[in-house]
Amino acid sequence: MISPDSSSVTASDPSTSSATSASLLARVSNPDYVIRVKDLNHYFGEGETRKQVLFHNGLDIQRGEIIIMTGPSGSGKTTLCKRLRSVSVSREHIRLDNYFKSPRTFPRKGAFRNWERPSNLKFDVLLKHLKMLRSGKKVHTMTFPKRAGAKREPIILNPGSIIFVEGFVLFKDKKVRDMLDLKIYLDIHPDIMLSRRAVRFGAAHVNDYDTKVAIPEFLKYGVAQKRFADHIVDAGRSQAEVIKEVKMLIKRHMGRGKSR
Ligand SMILES: Nc1ncnc2c1ncn2[C@@H]1O[C@H](COP(=O)(O)OP(=O)(O)OP(=O)(O)O)[C@@H](O)[C@H]1O
Ligand SMILES: [Mg+2]
Repeated sequence: MISPDSSSVTASDPSTSSATSASLLARVSNPDYVIRVKDLNHYFGEGETRKQVLFHNGLDIQRGEIIIMTGPSGSGKTTLCKRLRSVSVSREHIRLDNYFKSPRTFPRKGAFRNWERPSNLKFDVLLKHLKMLRSGKKVHTMTFPKRAGAKREPIILNPGSIIFVEGFVLFKDKKVRDMLDLKIYLDIHPDIMLSRRAVRFGAAHVNDYDTKVAIPEFLKYGVAQKRFADHIVDAGRSQAEVIKEVKMLIKRHMGRGKSR
């Protein structure tokens, strides 16, 4: 009865249907919904014993709105996605970090393995997962532990009304880019990138890998992504200020979607 392929279905008469009728199955071709049922009635029994048990109920399964946070390492993408819980109860968080190929395949830059190249990432797998989530399917996948020797753990990604995806070069792949609904670039100066990474990884790492690989590679591949962003947010401010602005952008975007 509920067909995601039909554009609009008018109700059958309750007296002729077996037990359930939806007086209007709204346009499921509407890009905001995978399935939308309005005015659902359900009956038990026949003749005098016939009883109505559902009265004009509705069901909305929204299509996942894909919202992206990109920007340099240390711009706060992961922290922000974790803290954006209150925007929607039905939301999922995807980390591009879990889509790395085997580090053995990465090119080298000087003495280092270069983790910063977009070609190190499995965009084809990410694209498949985004399509599955958008069509309402669960995704079973694995974590990618960056630390040598750490075990991969299973992850289940659930379809939701908002799918946050965060990573450092997310706009690089055109097919992925074309699926994104709201693209936010968290902007910080390389000096802030270095100071935040120094807290996480230690000063020695920053003086070595970061200045020789991470910063030059980000300036080459990462900064160029700004031109694809819908919004560039100054992420050098306090977390509270950044969260406030990003929440406002998401709410405005979702509100616009509903009136489409
Ligand atoms: N607005 C902010 N002000 C100060 N510190 C912040 C801010 N946002 C994030 N941080 C801190 O910076 C560090 C990096 O944040 P986070 O891991 O979220 O960055 P990221 O963009 O996900 O980086 P990566 O690309 O390396 O994963 C963390 O220690 C976090 O607490
Ligand atoms: Mg991160």
